[in-house]
Amino acid sequence: MLPTLRQGVYTALLLVIGASAMAGPEEDRAALRAFYEQRFPDVALDAHGDGAYALDADKRDQWLEMEDFPPYEIAIDDGAELYDSPLADGSSYEDCLGDGAPVVKQHFPRFDPESGQVETLEQRINGCRTAAGDEPWDYLGAEMSSLMAFIAYESRDETIAVEVPDDPRAQAAYNDGKEFFYTRRGQLNFACSSCHVSMAGNALRAERLSAALGHTTHWPVYRLKWKEVGPLHKRFIECNSQVRAVPLEAQSESYRNLEYFLTYMSNGMALNGPASRK
Ligand code: HEC
Repeated sequence: MLPTLRQGVYTALLLVIGASAMAGPEEDRAALRAFYEQRFPDVALDAHGDGAYALDADKRDQWLEMEDFPPYEIAIDDGAELYDSPLADGSSYEDCLGDGAPVVKQHFPRFDPESGQVETLEQRINGCRTAAGDEPWDYLGAEMSSLMAFIAYESRDETIAVEVPDDPRAQAAYNDGKEFFYTRRGQLNFACSSCHVSMAGNALRAERLSAALGHTTHWPVYRLKWKEVGPLHKRFIECNSQVRAVPLEAQSESYRNLEYFLTYMSNGMALNGPASRK
């Protein structure tokens, strides 16, 4: 066990050093994929879209049982109804979300040249609402998660294709997200990468630590612990709190940049949301 862990930490270190200033998103993605390939030679890279259940046969069996009667099904139905309800000015989400809607998840988050920032799908949805004269939804609320569940379901099997365009602001946002991922924080002084790269596959209390590859393929998620469907940023908040760091707000700029980096890492993987998790 020890040599594997040390080897992992060492490789992760090389990865961070290798992934410093010079490396662009494509080099980062290739390095991360190579790392997990070496660490989990028996796990196909695409299988990491199932998170920890790709790494633990017993937990996978329990999970497949849970997926027999998907606990997120009601959210998909609610989301379909919301999607079909006209906005205040009579327009629709379909008009607002544009080409291919509702199959759009694979393009988000995206860099928005107008604001110069990363725009998530949740922000786009609230943008549609406010432009039509509706109130924006709570980013952690049931309506947002239901509509996201419907869009995720419709977008299933699409290939994640997030772009970092040739714009210094987009590259800065990507680098900021990457830095967030590799920076240690909290009283326990852990980075995201400590648990999900260096220690990926190891057990932490009753849990098996998932690889960061595939971390964004399957949201929103119904978690037994939450007893509801919730978004990716809710998981960020929880993972930050776990190391006793002060969590940020859902949809804060830092979390959006983190999502941008993480989703870019999963480029080329198939969307498989919504999903269930313990
Ligand atoms: C102390 C260890 C630890 C740290 C540090 C940590 N996490 Fe986690 N994370 C976990 C555990 C445990 C789980 C639940 C088991 C799993 O899916 O890996 C989890 C789950 C997740 C999931 C859900 C995976 C899925 O399949 O649904 C995401 C996404 C995630 N973490 C992202 C992050 C990000 C981003 C950071 C940094 C802000 C971070 N984590 C920091 C321990 C950690």
